[in-house]
Amino acid sequence: MTTANEWQDRVGESWAREWQRTDRSFRELTGQLLDTVQAEPYRSALDIGCGAGELTVSLAKANPSAAHLGLDISEDLAAAARERTAALPNATIQLGDAASWNCDGNDRPDLLVSRHGVMFFPDPTSAFAHLRKQADPQAHLTFSCFRQPSENVWVRELASLMPKSPEAQAPDPRAPGPFAFGEKDYVADLLGKAGWRNIDFIPVDYAMVVGEGEDGDAVADATSYFRAIGPAARVISELDGAAREEVLQRLFGMGERHRTGNTVSLPAACWIVTATASD
Ligand SMILES: C[S@@+](CC[C@H](N)C(=O)[O-])C[C@H]1O[C@@H](n2cnc3c(N)ncnc32)[C@H](O)[C@@H]1O
Repeated sequence: MTTANEWQDRVGESWAREWQRTDRSFRELTGQLLDTVQAEPYRSALDIGCGAGELTVSLAKANPSAAHLGLDISEDLAAAARERTAALPNATIQLGDAASWNCDGNDRPDLLVSRHGVMFFPDPTSAFAHLRKQADPQAHLTFSCFRQPSENVWVRELASLMPKSPEAQAPDPRAPGPFAFGEKDYVADLLGKAGWRNIDFIPVDYAMVVGEGEDGDAVADATSYFRAIGPAARVISELDGAAREEVLQRLFGMGERHRTGNTVSLPAACWIVTATASD
């Protein structure tokens, strides 16, 4: 589970520090997501949970006559995105909660887009209903999100390396967090209840690049990335002594197993979800 408060605090800070390695991890997916997004013309795009802004930047560069607004709840990430978009006259970054964001009325977005930024709403149905009301009636929605953990080798393997607590409860699979939208039927249902139409799911399998470098540096890079970002980072930060060393050794081993030449990458599985605001 990752809450809005965490994005506004520790998690947002680490993502803001790590945006280069995070963009790298999404590299293969981003190309496919941008192709899907740009299949339809648009004049005004809203990037929901824009993070450090890679989608906003790429779209603004590729579509100079369209307006682009990146919206994020984390001050640190909005600041990073602002820096990256400073030279782009058709891109603006706003700090705010997408679940209650209000359009000023003149320029309703006709494209709502997100790379993994929409799975953190405490009430996703009401957030998507609200966003639909803010959008142009002809708007298109396109976002990516992870499929279930069982389909994502990277998180399954990471979880298998972490110490097990006998008291640990099975997490709610729909709790706000990176895997909240793993179940296709659940997501289709909530988007339908929120008023979205023509809902479609494209499964995308991609190589999540987590480490690069020569002479074994790729594995060290992967280990340090997993210590900084994602589900292992918090667990490792709470360990010390021998327990911490053991997990780091295992992480290193995982990096070695998934290294090809100068790159460490793990299989990842996500959906690209598309929908329209009206029939
Ligand atoms: C997994 S990150 C993805 C960031 C970015 N889209 C990317 O691909 O690098 C999720 C993002 O959603 C943002 N976020 C979470 N809840 C939000 C909300 N209610 N409104 C706006 N942004 C939110 C977080 O701050 C974070 O930047």
